[in-house]
Amino acid sequence: MEEFTNGKGIYSMKIEKVGVVGCGLMGSGIVEVCARAGYSVTVSEVNQQLLDKGLAAITNSITRAAERGKITDDDKKATLGRIKGTTNLEDFKNCNLVIEAVLEDMARKKDIFRLLDKVCPKTSILATNTSCLAIIEMAMSTQRPDKVLGIHFFNPAPVMKLVEIVKPIAVSQETVSDAKVFAESLGKKVIFAPDSPGFVVNRLLVPFIIDAIRIYEAGTATAEDIDQGMVLGCNHPMGPLALADLVGLDTLVMVGNAMYEEFKEPRFAPTPLLKKMVAAGRLGRKTGRGFYQYS
Ligand SMILES: NC(=O)c1ccc[n+]([C@@H]2O[C@H](COP(=O)([O-])OP(=O)(O)OC[C@H]3O[C@@H](n4cnc5c(N)ncnc54)[C@H](O)[C@@H]3O)[C@@H](O)[C@H]2O)c1
Repeated sequence: MEEFTNGKGIYSMKIEKVGVVGCGLMGSGIVEVCARAGYSVTVSEVNQQLLDKGLAAITNSITRAAERGKITDDDKKATLGRIKGTTNLEDFKNCNLVIEAVLEDMARKKDIFRLLDKVCPKTSILATNTSCLAIIEMAMSTQRPDKVLGIHFFNPAPVMKLVEIVKPIAVSQETVSDAKVFAESLGKKVIFAPDSPGFVVNRLLVPFIIDAIRIYEAGTATAEDIDQGMVLGCNHPMGPLALADLVGLDTLVMVGNAMYEEFKEPRFAPTPLLKKMVAAGRLGRKTGRGFYQYS
């Protein structure tokens, strides 16, 4: 087996250029993490307006890191210089590894994998940041299922230490090993998870958050008391309803539905209130209102 190194680990292939599809909540964070670790990153969005919004969020976050003294001004300039935005997936033609981070919709993700498979070199790894969808379905829409897997970051990606490496049944050991080296080169800790809805963390977390919404909906306790209970009583850094707002209630519904579809266990099913809040556009922090109001 050939070996390559970027000074941070040994890969079976060279990974220098990274692509990220989608510059929303997760995509923008993943771009920042990769660029700060020294990779050249190309990020795509559906149109220029959303691309500008995503790139502005990245610039703000990197600027805040510099202001807090976490990186120098020179690092800031160099990091921003490594990021390129595009609205054309053809611009991923030189990427060695692409991470898809668009909304949780299988049809859309499969379309993206089909396109990436045509555009990217045959040797490139194609990864998804899906929270719970079957990665094998995305893999089988390409001609390289051995090179497709999940690299699942947590929100906010620049802060959260964990990455789940999710292994669909067709992935090769080389791809898994390269993905692990890559995630560690970003300063992340890796755990391995099966290609089963929710993997490890969301399999536990999603029913917990949905249960908290159920309790709130039944009028058992206020949002503040539910959250304080878990923060002060269980040492959670944030309560489940505040966490739901951070994740995005639309994403939570999509993830809960996909898990319910697979396991048919009611504890995964989004509650009526949660679905109504999404219908009303109360998606949490990203729209300024969810279980709480945000300025
Ligand atoms: N929100 C979380 O806490 C969280 C955590 C881990 C993983 N995830 C997963 O990450 C993925 C993205 O979630 P998010 O919260 O960032 O969603 P988001 O809605 O904030 O961002 C998705 C972005 O993808 C863009 N997009 C859609 N189709 C596209 C295309 N064809 N090409 C380029 N861009 C496209 C959208 O315009 C949007 O800006 C989902 O699969 C989600 O399950 C989310």
